Amino acid sequence: MQVLYAQAIYLTQSEERLQSSGNTRAGRSCFVFAATQSESRRPANCIPATRTVQRAMSLQGQVALVVGGASGIGLAIVKEFLQEGANVAVCDISAKGEEVVKDLQAEFGTQRSIFKHVDVRDEGQVQAAFTETKSNFKKLNIVVNCAGLLNDLDWNLAVDINLKGVIRGTLLAWKHMGKHEGGSGGTVVNIASIAGLMALPFTPVYIATKHAVVGFSRSCGDPYNVDRTAVRVLTVCPGMTDTPIFKNVKLLAPELEEELWKTTPQFPMQTADNVAKAVVHLINNGPSGSVWVSEEEKPAYQLKFPEYPTMRVDP
Ligand SMILES: NC(=O)c1ccc[n+]([C@@H]2O[C@H](COP(=O)([O-])OP(=O)(O)OC[C@H]3O[C@@H](n4cnc5c(N)ncnc54)[C@H](O)[C@@H]3O)[C@@H](O)[C@H]2O)c1
Repeated sequence: MQVLYAQAIYLTQSEERLQSSGNTRAGRSCFVFAATQSESRRPANCIPATRTVQRAMSLQGQVALVVGGASGIGLAIVKEFLQEGANVAVCDISAKGEEVVKDLQAEFGTQRSIFKHVDVRDEGQVQAAFTETKSNFKKLNIVVNCAGLLNDLDWNLAVDINLKGVIRGTLLAWKHMGKHEGGSGGTVVNIASIAGLMALPFTPVYIATKHAVVGFSRSCGDPYNVDRTAVRVLTVCPGMTDTPIFKNVKLLAPELEEELWKTTPQFPMQTADNVAKAVVHLINNGPSGSVWVSEEEKPAYQLKFPEYPTMRVDP
């Protein structure tokens, strides 16, 4: 029997018992088995989860706030959302943001998108964007944290934008959508990178920020937090994607950039549209806490993380 991603989460029976008894801390991702193949491959001690997984949603009539939405992957996500029937607040530091949204309004209708000038380093600006988006569209269902840059030289800036920006956006999403704050829940999608899944000697700061985004998002997306907040948190790790990010790369030393470009044939370039399609697919189907790779213009695939003791090197 074929099962959909969203229907393919199982909890161990002991965990289900703990959940029924109200001990939701048992909803730890280490107990979650995500089946992507068939019902017959479900482990014998696992049963379908009933409470921790929020099922598929349609984007029609939903409201999304996309941070870093004026360019590249963020803009492709914005367009995909609009095509799917969602209304979107495009939040970005870019001076081009106003122009970008004028074009979107011409294509999709004047009422469907707004631009908010936001620097993710500024708590007040991000907070205002959330408040104004809710006030304009009367609700908020989806938050995408996509602002980022590749600047190891100014490593404080890289951490401020790539990591602290994502943390800020996610915590504000909890505040504005979380049931623990009186909201009705929603979905957060954090854009990490395949750089968050490997070590690479040429961009250690970028690698660090993206690893941190993966760990942060998996933790926020843990079933314990979904029970608490009714907000799913998903992570997408794009592979090399053709966007303006590569026009302004700054690394710790010039020779590192040369070396970095030598590695790129290993990571074939894809379009930002492919990532955007993956994001919509995951919003509709992805279990909270899951991490997906979108690369090489192919459909996204989900990752299974090892428990760290299995990574132990025996003497
Ligand atoms: N392009 C790739 O190959 C690739 C691969 C993996 C992950 N990513 C990640 O995807 C995300 C989007 O990058 P992209 O490739 O589309 O690049 P991009 O440069 O086209 O887009 C980045 C956006 O972030 C915005 N931004 C930067 N600083 C900001 C700030 N302080 N406040 C608000 N917005 C800010 C920029 O104005 C821009 O619109 C980044 O997090 C990047 O790390 C990109």
